[in-house]
Amino acid sequence: MNRLFHLAVGLLVAGTAVAAEPPKGSVSGSPAFLASNCANCHGTDGRASDAIPALAGVEKDYFIQAMKEYKGGAREATIMHQLSKGYTDDEIVVLAEYFSNLKP
Ligand code: HEC
Repeated sequence: MNRLFHLAVGLLVAGTAVAAEPPKGSVSGSPAFLASNCANCHGTDGRASDAIPALAGVEKDYFIQAMKEYKGGAREATIMHQLSKGYTDDEIVVLAEYFSNLKP
C-alpha cells in the first residue's frame, strides 16, 4: 500500500513536470522569446536596415539550412557560428517558422 502511494505521488510529480515544459522537447521558450535574441542585430521583427541581412520573410528551408551550416562551420560567418551553436535543431525550426511568417 505504502509503495503504491509513493508510486502514485511519483507519477503525479512526473506528470506535473512534463506539463510545465514547453510543447516541443528541446525548445526553451516561445517563438517570440527565442527570436528576441536576434533583434539586436537583425532588427525588431527581423527587419534589419543596415549591413546585417533581414530575417523577416526569409524562406523556411533556406533559414534552417543557413543555421545548420553556421553550426557546422560550412558557411562563412563573422558571428553566426557562435550564435547558431546556442540553439537546438528544434529551436532552429521554431525560429525559421517564426521569421518566415513575418512580413519583410
Ligand atoms: C551579434 C549580431 C547578431 C545576432 C545577435 C544574430 N545574428 Fe544572425 N547574422 C549576423 C551577421 C553579421 C550575419 C551575416 C553572417 C555573419 O557574418 O555571421 C548574420 C546572418 C544570419 C542568417 C543568414 C541570413 C541570410 O540571408 O543568409 C541567418 C538565418 C541568421 N543570421 C539568423 C539569426 C538568428 C535566428 C538569430 C537569433 C537566434 C541571429 N541570427 C542573431 C549577426 C547576428
